Amino acid sequence: MSHTDEPQGTRRDFLYYATAGSGVVVTGAAVWPLVNQMNPSADVLALASIRVDVSAIDPGTQLTVLWQGKPVFIRARTEDEIAQARAVDLADLPDQNAENENLGPEADATDENRALSEDGVWLVQMGVCTHLGCVPLGEQGDFGGWFCPCHGSHYDTSGRIRKGPAPRNLPVPVAQFVDETTIELG
Ligand code: FES
Repeated sequence: MSHTDEPQGTRRDFLYYATAGSGVVVTGAAVWPLVNQMNPSADVLALASIRVDVSAIDPGTQLTVLWQGKPVFIRARTEDEIAQARAVDLADLPDQNAENENLGPEADATDENRALSEDGVWLVQMGVCTHLGCVPLGEQGDFGGWFCPCHGSHYDTSGRIRKGPAPRNLPVPVAQFVDETTIELG
């Protein structure tokens, strides 16, 4: 089953939330447009795959969509972000695995293995901290990627954990472009 998510009044709704358990709600200066709805119905939560129109995402910005009840970050990265991610020595990474469901479990954590598009622009990853499940904040932290304020985990511009208690890179879900401006998740 598939479903198309249209950005409704793009950048209208801003929401931060933490997943069940922590009860932490954070608001701040960095905001993401959230597509979908605050209270997705059960049939939406159950969708195995969704299609997302990414035509309105400019380089340096990110769209957060809810998929199967979890946030997914879809980011169009700038050249600087890509260059920064690709300059990293793999030996410096706490988690050396790509954590990319599109690749085998042996794939290493190069940025090439995490980006969705060959040019490196598109990065799609679960917006769920691998420590205890909070939603990390974008364009923050010591590595210019994502920062999880719950316990201080820093992710780089490829979504790889670099510092803090989170054990793994942000997971990359099954995703593909189905046309030039549409990404299918699942
Ligand atoms: S949940 Fe992100 S650092 Fe603990």
